[in-house]
Amino acid sequence: MGLSVAANIYHFLSQTRELFGDEIFIQSSLDNINQGSGYDFPGSLQEFNDKINSCHKCQLGDARTKFVFGVGDPKADLLLVGEAPGVDEDRLGEPFVGRAGKLLDKILAAIHLNRTKGVYICNVLKCRPPNNRDPLPSEVDQCEPYLQHQIRLIKPQLIVALGRVAGKTLLKQDIPLKAMREKIYHYEEIPLIVTYHPAALLRNSGFKAPTWKDFQWIQSILDGKTNIG
Ligand code: URA
Repeated sequence: MGLSVAANIYHFLSQTRELFGDEIFIQSSLDNINQGSGYDFPGSLQEFNDKINSCHKCQLGDARTKFVFGVGDPKADLLLVGEAPGVDEDRLGEPFVGRAGKLLDKILAAIHLNRTKGVYICNVLKCRPPNNRDPLPSEVDQCEPYLQHQIRLIKPQLIVALGRVAGKTLLKQDIPLKAMREKIYHYEEIPLIVTYHPAALLRNSGFKAPTWKDFQWIQSILDGKTNIG
């Protein structure tokens, strides 16, 4: 067995233990093993939220008002991933509820979607960093397994990273946002694209046109009109 395979197995088992304790979930039948994302992880998003929302794995857990797990349709085709809760999200316990969130709702409405149907919204970090600073790598390391498990439960058709920080975290590449756009990547084997963060559109209206282009592309992927392989 190659070292990287062993390291991957070790990583998977450590993560599983962290999420579920000492119980290990193994397929009872081999029939589904080759069905890729057809693997059904046990439990619901609500159960998972209940399990992790008292997290204190990093110092952000000590400072938060509310843990911001995520919101939306548990069977969403589209998963939007932002960076981290801001002050409004920390107060209300829901992602994207401030000015940037209102704009995101308008963008979704323009492609006939909303946060309760067909869409799930969450962040890389579940707790607010002080003064809205960028997430630290150690905070991402602690929190990313939660996002990975949310993805396994939701099994979306498409993940969209909102902004450079979410893009950098999910792609594991520190490149400018411009270079991340208009490409298909994969995260946990699910197609992923990166677009501007709605807060960036509030700061610079020049980003609105390319964002609109990205969301039209997203719509055509979700409608099956653009094949992404
Ligand atoms: N910005 C984010 O990235 N996420 C939120 O939930 C709010 C603002």
